[in-house]
Amino acid sequence: MKRIAIVGLQWGDEGKGKMTDVLAKQADLIVRYQGGDNAGHTVKFDTYTYDLHILPSGVIHPHVISILGPGMVINLETLFNEKKPFPHATIKVSNRAHLILPFHKTLDAKKEETQHIGTTKRGIGPTYSDKINRQGLRVASLLNKNRFIHEANALAALHQIDFDAKAYYELHEKEIIALLPHIIDVSKHLDVAIKDGKTVMFEGAQGVMLDISHGTYPYVTSSSPSVSGIPSQVGMAPWLLEGALGIVKAYSTRVGEGPFPTEIHTELAHQIREVAHEYGVTTGRPRRIGYLDLISLKHAVRVSGITHLAITLLDVISEMDEIKVCKAYELDGNIIDEVPAHIDDLSRVIPIYDSLPSFKEDISKITSYKDLPEPAKAYISYIEKALHAKIAYVSVGPKREQTIQLENIWEASRD
Ligand code: GDP
Ligand code: IMO
Ligand code: MG
Repeated sequence: MKRIAIVGLQWGDEGKGKMTDVLAKQADLIVRYQGGDNAGHTVKFDTYTYDLHILPSGVIHPHVISILGPGMVINLETLFNEKKPFPHATIKVSNRAHLILPFHKTLDAKKEETQHIGTTKRGIGPTYSDKINRQGLRVASLLNKNRFIHEANALAALHQIDFDAKAYYELHEKEIIALLPHIIDVSKHLDVAIKDGKTVMFEGAQGVMLDISHGTYPYVTSSSPSVSGIPSQVGMAPWLLEGALGIVKAYSTRVGEGPFPTEIHTELAHQIREVAHEYGVTTGRPRRIGYLDLISLKHAVRVSGITHLAITLLDVISEMDEIKVCKAYELDGNIIDEVPAHIDDLSRVIPIYDSLPSFKEDISKITSYKDLPEPAKAYISYIEKALHAKIAYVSVGPKREQTIQLENIWEASRD
């Protein structure tokens, strides 16, 4: 396969950054297709740790062309800061991506005072609102200083917020001017690359359960991480996408508010949080911890058309005395196997669990599937059967080499 997507199937933080970095060796282009600097993708190799918020996680590989796609919302300050450690990276930015301006963050924080979604306060929702309301600023606005100043001041006035667009532009002028030659029409760029036979990876941020349409609305982000959103968000024919690697953490986590049926409220949650450093990369908030939820995962696999899976953080499961997996929900006395669309109903579901034996040993140095303990293999095949997608990778630690490959997705056939 030459064009694949990497997408989180839970509530974000599944290890997309790590898996993107692992697969980047064979990628020519890596495109972030949605979201903005609400993402926090950690990539670890040798003694280095990079927390990437806006750049694709392949940026560390000098051969990769990193693209910020049209479906993104871009905070220039984050972009300029994050680029600094990668002076030799090739980074292109869509002329159609929308700009997060400082007042979008103010609006986000203000809305949180009453709405309590638990956003990252990066201005994501307000920027996408402006886009959908047909009043936002695209990256293309930067190409002409006076036009940018006029448009940004007008937008601030519409929101009744004081903002000096001229001062903002001039504060970043040097970096904006350096960025101008890298502002591109991503759809056209991809078209040429695809015709040239290049390999392309589409890196999702967040996860399907945070998708604006398919997630646990309204406790979601304001974009579409699901695979089905990729073609329209990058400007590419849907049939050109050949495969989708769904990233599944071996348990569940969620940051921010919203229903979380399999949430663990015992000491075990604290134990897992500490062992796996489950704290938000963007906000530092402790992540809520839960058991694996097959109902939400089946939903995520279906809405996204997942062809392959990567199971991550399997090593952390050794903290559990028994592996509990939610196989159905009970809602008002009825057994259901789908995610209720209304948040009130989702808040009331009672998870019904299967219990599998755990493994109480360190698997973080295992490099071959056959060397995994039997209970770990049983858990993997249980997930594979339930989700009807091939497990291609098992991750047993944060570093590149802590990855067991069962199938190379780049070499997989399309069916
Ligand atoms: P992303 O947002 O999906 O890229 O995920 P994050 O980077 O926010 O969160 C995943 C965290 O788990 C990061 O700290 C990774 O370094 C770490 N990680 C990734 N894979 C593994 C794994 O297999 N085992 C362990 N113990 N940590 C992992
Ligand atoms: P990565 O890419 C986990 C959550 C926020 C909040 C909701 C809406 O690292 O997986 P927003 O700021 O987007 O309006 O917040 O979405 N959220 C994430 N949770 N990982 C992320 O990104 C997230 N990006 C947003 O915590 O609940
Ligand atoms: Mg993250």
